[in-house]
Amino acid sequence: MPVTMTIRSRLRDYDIVMDESVEFLKSLEQFAHRCYVIDANVWRLYADSALKSLQQFQTIVLPVDEERKCLDSVVEIYQQLIARSAKRNLTLISIGGGTLQDISGFAASTLYRGVNWIFVPTTLLAMADSCIGGKTSLNFQRYKNLIGTFYPPSKVFIHAPFLATLNDSDFSSGLGEVVKLHLIGGPGKTTRAAELLPRMWRRDTEALAEGIQNSLSIKQSYITQDEFDEGQRIMLNFGHCFGHALETTSDFEIPHGQAIVIGMLLSNNVACQRGLMSCSRSESLRKDLLLPTLRVKPKPQWLDTANVVECMRKDKKRTGDGLVLIMMRDNHDMLKVDDLTVQEVDRALAQEKEFLENI
Ligand SMILES: NC(=O)c1ccc[n+]([C@@H]2O[C@H](COP(=O)([O-])OP(=O)(O)OC[C@H]3O[C@@H](n4cnc5c(N)ncnc54)[C@H](O)[C@@H]3O)[C@@H](O)[C@H]2O)c1
Ligand SMILES: [Zn+2]
Repeated sequence: MPVTMTIRSRLRDYDIVMDESVEFLKSLEQFAHRCYVIDANVWRLYADSALKSLQQFQTIVLPVDEERKCLDSVVEIYQQLIARSAKRNLTLISIGGGTLQDISGFAASTLYRGVNWIFVPTTLLAMADSCIGGKTSLNFQRYKNLIGTFYPPSKVFIHAPFLATLNDSDFSSGLGEVVKLHLIGGPGKTTRAAELLPRMWRRDTEALAEGIQNSLSIKQSYITQDEFDEGQRIMLNFGHCFGHALETTSDFEIPHGQAIVIGMLLSNNVACQRGLMSCSRSESLRKDLLLPTLRVKPKPQWLDTANVVECMRKDKKRTGDGLVLIMMRDNHDMLKVDDLTVQEVDRALAQEKEFLENI
């Protein structure tokens, strides 16, 4: 039976439907003027199976990668839609991961100042995280996510069996964000994440469906309080201050969500140095949840203090002189500081290096 949750938004409320079958595709046929935009890899993998019924309809198959998450790809969608005489009554149905979501969501939000948009996420990150929150982002020149809109889809359909074909790197990246959201969700959800983890790694559909639902309900509580990212929503960036730095020091060799896992380990080390988190809590989180979520062995130069600090200084969320860090207390309350010192970064890195060498 499909499970539904409703996301409240000042722009429009929308339903998330979790469906183990692809029956939902049939329900989309109610939209007479519709066009599907499909990630080229997803189409290659599913055109003869789960998505076979779409072969007879209008589809735009879009190759996606981070370099193509830009205005040129949006223009390509506009052109194809206009060539097919799309009007204001169009429904655009996007099927793919976070990259396709950002490109096609931006197109849907701007064409005719917004057309009806439905999203079918196919990666773990898109199912458990990016499909709610209403952000669409494009890269511009060398700046990531510089351009964007707030535009939630009118409906999201999550079909977890799509995750069977995701490559290990993208899967491990999504799992990092799933674990981050469970940690933000509190001690109960954290314990549950540790229990679900071995089954999620085996891609057990039931365990993944529960992990996805938990993640979405935790993110939901933040986005309904702070839909337009003016305050509390920044706490969802737990692990990202160090994580973004590690993506840069590794020259993007480490998948995003895996960098976030190391970022959370480092953040907990600082929290423990500052007495915000007990060291026994930090150790148990490392042992029971964070190291079991990590599948990437970092190279020593990725963890070099001078390199990491240089990247953290460039963090776009930084406003004062000090470095920004989001930390968690023992009771999992979140806290943002902007006075992190180089010495603290150095100590946190030194403390973690030995554990990370033994992965
Ligand atoms: N809009 C938001 O709120 C938001 C939030 C977080 C991240 N993002 C963005 O999302 C992007 C990353 O998205 P992602 O992690 O979903 O990756 P992705 O969309 O880049 O997909 C990763 C790879 O997996 C392929 N793929 C997709 N589904 C598949 C499937 N079921 N089986 C096999 N292969 C499949 C894709 O073709 C691609 O090669 C980043 O650009 C990031 O900035 C957006
Ligand atoms: Zn992230």
